[in-house]
Parts: sequence; C-alpha cells; structure tokens
Amino acid sequence: MNTGIKMFLAILVFAFSHTISAQNSRDAAVENRLKSMTLEEKVGQMSQIDLGVLAVGKTCEVADPIRLDTAKLRLAFHRYKVGSVLNCGCGFHALSRKRWLELIDSIQQANSLYTKHGIPVLYGIDAIHGANYTLGSTLFPQQIGQAATWNPELVKAAARITAYETRASGIPWNFSPVLDIGRQPLWSRFFETYGEDVCLAKKMTNACITGYQGNTFGNGQVAACMKHFLGYSYPLSGKDRTPVWIGERELRAYFLPTFQEAIRLKAKTLMINSGELNGVPVHASYPILTTLLREELGFEGVAVTDWEDVYKLHTTHKVAETLRDAVKMAVMAGIDMSMTPNDFQFNELLLDLVKSGEIPESRLDMSVRRILKLKADLGLEGKVSLPSLTDYPLFGSDSFARVAYDAVGESITLLKNKGDILPLKTESKVWVMGNGANSLNYLNGAWSQTWLGQDTSFNESNKLTILQALKAGYGKDNISEVTAQFVARNTRKSKQLPNVVLYCLGETPATEIPGNIDDLAIAIPAADRIALNQLNARNVPVVLVLLLGRPRIITDLDAISRAVVHAYIPGQEGAKPLVDLLYGRINPSGRLPFTYPRSSGDIVHYDRKRTEDNDIHFGDKGYRPLYDFGYGLSFTRYDYRELKVTSQNDTFVINVIVRNTGSREGKEVVQVYYRDEYAPVTPSQKKLCAFSKVNLKPGQDAVVTLKVPFSEVGDIGADMKPFKASGILHFFAGQQTVTINHKP
Ligand code: BGC
Repeated sequence: MNTGIKMFLAILVFAFSHTISAQNSRDAAVENRLKSMTLEEKVGQMSQIDLGVLAVGKTCEVADPIRLDTAKLRLAFHRYKVGSVLNCGCGFHALSRKRWLELIDSIQQANSLYTKHGIPVLYGIDAIHGANYTLGSTLFPQQIGQAATWNPELVKAAARITAYETRASGIPWNFSPVLDIGRQPLWSRFFETYGEDVCLAKKMTNACITGYQGNTFGNGQVAACMKHFLGYSYPLSGKDRTPVWIGERELRAYFLPTFQEAIRLKAKTLMINSGELNGVPVHASYPILTTLLREELGFEGVAVTDWEDVYKLHTTHKVAETLRDAVKMAVMAGIDMSMTPNDFQFNELLLDLVKSGEIPESRLDMSVRRILKLKADLGLEGKVSLPSLTDYPLFGSDSFARVAYDAVGESITLLKNKGDILPLKTESKVWVMGNGANSLNYLNGAWSQTWLGQDTSFNESNKLTILQALKAGYGKDNISEVTAQFVARNTRKSKQLPNVVLYCLGETPATEIPGNIDDLAIAIPAADRIALNQLNARNVPVVLVLLLGRPRIITDLDAISRAVVHAYIPGQEGAKPLVDLLYGRINPSGRLPFTYPRSSGDIVHYDRKRTEDNDIHFGDKGYRPLYDFGYGLSFTRYDYRELKVTSQNDTFVINVIVRNTGSREGKEVVQVYYRDEYAPVTPSQKKLCAFSKVNLKPGQDAVVTLKVPFSEVGDIGADMKPFKASGILHFFAGQQTVTINHKP
C-alpha cells in the first residue's frame, strides 16, 4: 500500500472514530437528561403546536402583523412544556427573515424562562420548494418540475439553497421532501411528488436528502422530513386523505423504495400519512409505524404525526371512541411527536394515560430519546444562538436565483413542435392569452408565501409574470396580452394577425383537500376556445404553455396547438427561463416524469403490465398515452448507437454512444429501460433502471457508461421478498435494444 493510500485510510479511520465518539457522548448526555426529566416534560417534548397558538388573536385567525401573546407563551411552555412549534399560523403567510428571527428568539427566550429543563424549542416549517414562508427567499420549481430536470445535481443544489435560506430564517427542520410516488394524477398533491417512477424518484430522493442534510450538521443544513409514510399518494378516488388500497407487494415495490433510500441516507425525521391504508389509519398502525419502520427498516429518527391526526382517529377516521383512546392508539402504534397542533388536549390525555398505567413511561422515553438526539444534532442545546441578518449573506441572492433559473430551464419539457414553430423569432408578433399569462400565483402554486398560494397580496414585487418577462426580454411592441373578444374582433382583418399566439394554461393553485378535482380534463373558458379555433382557422400557430402540476387532459387543445411546452409549476423565477426557452436561448432538456394520458379514463403508467397493452380488437395497441414517460423534444437531435450490456461483480455495465446530430448544443437525458421477459410475478413491459444527463455540442459524441447493481433490476415476489431478474432481459436506450440471457 503506498503512503498516500495509508494516509487516506488513517484519516478515514480518524473521522469515523471521531463521529462515533461524538455520537457516544451525545447519547450519554441525552440519557442523563432523560433521567432528570419529569413526566410532564417528557409529554411536552412529544407535542408540537402551530405558531398561531402562541399569537395574539384566535387560532388560525391570528392578528396581522403576527405578535406573540405573553399569556399564551406561558401556557405553552410553563404549563405544557411544549417542545416544538411549526409554521406560521395555519399557513397564514410568509414573514420577513427579520420577523422570523425575532419571533423564534422570543419563543426560545420564553421557553428558557418558563421551563426548568431549558431544552430549546425545535421549530419546523414546510419549505417545500425553497424557503417559501420567508419573504425574499429563492423559490424553485415544485418537486414534479424538479423531477422533470432528470438532473439530480440541480435538485441537490436547490435543496442546499433551501436549507441555507431556512436556516437563515432561524429554522432547522424542514417538512420536506414528499417521497410519495405520483401514480394517481387525480390526487391534489401530485405536483409535490417526484412523479410515477421509482428509479427516478429514488435518485431525486437521494439528491434532496443529501442537499438538506449534507454529511454533518452545521450552518446551512436542516433536518429533512420524509413524508408521508406510507401509501398516502394513491387514493382510489383521487381525493386527498380518502381511502387507499395497496397490496403489500405493490406497497413494497412502488411506495416504499424512496423511503428506504432516505432512511439509508439517515434522513432525520419522517411524517406519517394522514389517511388510511387498507382500512387502517396509518397513525394507528403498529405494523407500519413500528414493525415495518423501526424493526425492519431500522429508522432511528423522529416520527411526527401530520396535522391534527391523533385527534382525527376519533373525529374523522372513527376508529377511536374517544380522544383519549386516540392518543393511546397513536402513541402505542409508534408516533414520537404529535403535530397537535391547536390545543393541549394531547398533553393532558397522554399525561393521564401514563399516570393511570395505560401507557408505560418507558414508551415515552423511547420517543423523547429520539427527539433529544435530534435536537442535539441540530445544535439545540443550552442557549440557542440564532443567526443575525448579516449572517447568511447569500440569502435571496442573484447566484441562488441563477440556480432556480437553471432548474426551471432544465425542467421545461417540449412535448410538441410541429414544423419547428419554436424557437420564436425575436421580431415575432406574439399575442398572449390564458389564465397563467400574467400571474405569479400560477407560476408558484401552493406552498408559496401562503399555504394555498392563492392570495396575491404577498407576491414578491420584483418577480416577473410570463407576460412581463416577454415584454422585458422581447420588446413591448411585439407582445400584447389579448382577450378572446379582442381575438374575435381582430381575426377578421388579416393584417392585424400575430405570428403566434401563446396560450398559458394554469391550474388554480391549491393543495391537500382544497386541491381536489372532479375531472382530470381541464376546461378553458368557452370564449377562449372559440378564439383559439378562430386563430387556427386563420393559420395563426398556437403555442400551448402548460403550468400544470399533474397531467390534466389537454388532448383537444393539443390537437389545435402547433407546439406544446410543459412548464409544470416552475416558481416565481420561472417566467424568464420559460421565455428564454421559447426564443431558443435555452435548448429544452426536460423529460416527462409521468405518463401523459390521452383521456381521463385511460390512466396507464408506462411501466404497465402486458395485459394493459390489450386493445378492444384483441390486439396489443392498448397503451397509447398522449406522451410517454421520459418523453421530451429538443431543438437538436440525438442518435444512439452501440448499446452494450455486460456484467461485472453483480452489476450490469451499460454502454451506449449518443451523438448530437443537429446544429445546436443541448442536453440529452440518456434513459435505460429493461424488460424481464418472464418473471415470478407479472413483469412490466418496460422499467427505467438508469439515466444520465449529458451535454453535447453539435456533432459531438458521448460515450455513456451506467452501472446498475443486479439488485436494482428485479421486483418484489409474491413472498414479499425482492428477487433479481434473470433469463431473457431486454435493455433499451434511445432507438437501441440489446437482449441478454442473464444468470445472476
Ligand atoms: C400536510 C403536511 C404538512 C403539514 C404542516 C399537513 O396538512 O399534509 O404535508 O407538512 O400540514 O403544514
């Protein structure tokens, strides 16, 4: 062994033993602390209240500007010894960084004044696509758009910035990412997922958790909270928090892997699924919260409930006859912290349950130990030192906005470009229409300054709508926002016709239950429809820009559009990169992270089974989405050759050469799929197993090598155990196919 390697190994051993000894001394301190705590203090650590409970005004109707109420602080910390606070008053609205730091400082001071133990308060927030509850922060595309980049490095960078800006606001715990798989497009929170595919979502999970948590804790990192464990995203009806039926095999094959990945990366916390899974509310499920999560997956972090979900076992799910039963059920199932969040009944009831011997104190110790370890890891020990306004100098900086620009630029997916209508020419005359044309809210979606993202009063004044970005970048005179009535009047006189009409179609910002829809098809006003038809009849090309968080059915609009550009929900930095892409300054490289259905009744995922290919003529043309998973065009072309698949040390080594055969530089997402011809459980027709995004100049070749462990190519068997694919395997990349006979 040479000296360099020896030295490297010595450093590794030192770093490892250092981490272990730091952990040991943390654990010893936690044990000591635990021994000295009263029962009331332990119960307090297990409860979390909303900021509104501490504020002047009524719960969920706090006075604006928000102010802390001394009597309420005393009640929460002196009497109930609450250990954690969240958000901003029922999703009230974003605050300035200054205000956050003042509020959290006052909360920590009240806590140390009123409690004997002096354990700092753990503040948590939904920083879903950036620090969206802090004014002036950097907002990124919602998760579905981040997945569409197929670029984990960008997702990691966005997570790092989110962590930095959340910490800059004095908050160390982020209720993100959503690791639920997006396979039910009717679901209102589809936009919060990384889409339908396990391989893509796992890679994005890895990027996000690494970005939030880094390798160690310190400035600019936050505890991630993977949510919502488990099976939340697949309601039968599509409506949020309604029954989900998922067999154990499917649960393990599709819904568990992202959580497994996050747990492998030591994600610090987890939030529980608010709904019911196969008839059992997950907050009451010992098999999910303890047998699976703790015993099988080895999760050591904190499991927090979702909003009011302990009480809902009684009030909504009706599995507990009283609130007291509900508390007992949830605690014995395995929750660590109750996001109560609007009163202290949880504290009262839990205390009573332990005093009466119905819940052993040792059960509380298990949870409090986890919570104290988390607090120690986040630096919440002794006197809390919050940042000052001069710390975190990059907060809301241009360099962060540039990352958001890149993330949007790489997410936008060009679905159609008939006759190369795009890119637009700088001098083109453009008419702009649609509900998303001049709105920041449609760009941002929910979790943006407010919970639902609908209120316009908190929009950042320096951010541009699509219309504003068009005018700023491509000339006021060329761009006009027009109404359907204007179109009706003017399509008669040909000299006034534009070169193109841009129709920006957005989905009303919303999430959770307010985001429920009754129809996957999206309607546009009848007058707009007539206007688009009139323009079509006069040969004015329609460019359809979609600001949608799920694949709403647009087949008829697609048919009358020359180009279709999917921008997802790109965030308030989104207009500029979108406009730059329309004019060719950005070459599109986003790819669909979901299958785009042609009609509401035909929701089939790309990784379908052979039976889903059946058509009504007994043929195999049944799978015919409007756009396939992974699809996306560019302003250049890519050709694939020499796909080769070999095996080495239990790993597939996949090589393929990609060439940019067009005349523009661009980024291609090399996607490798496989099909297991015969398997113990019905195999998918196609499954993604690896991908890589490569930048190519015109005429340039890239030799792409992807390595996939055998264990990643396979499925879950009927015995609920993973198996590796074997026998005839087909691999696909671009236009290339390779078949091998594999014996793992
Ligand atoms: C949502 C969670 C969120 C929590 C706190 C709940 O209603 O389901 O995703 O983290 O509220 O805002």
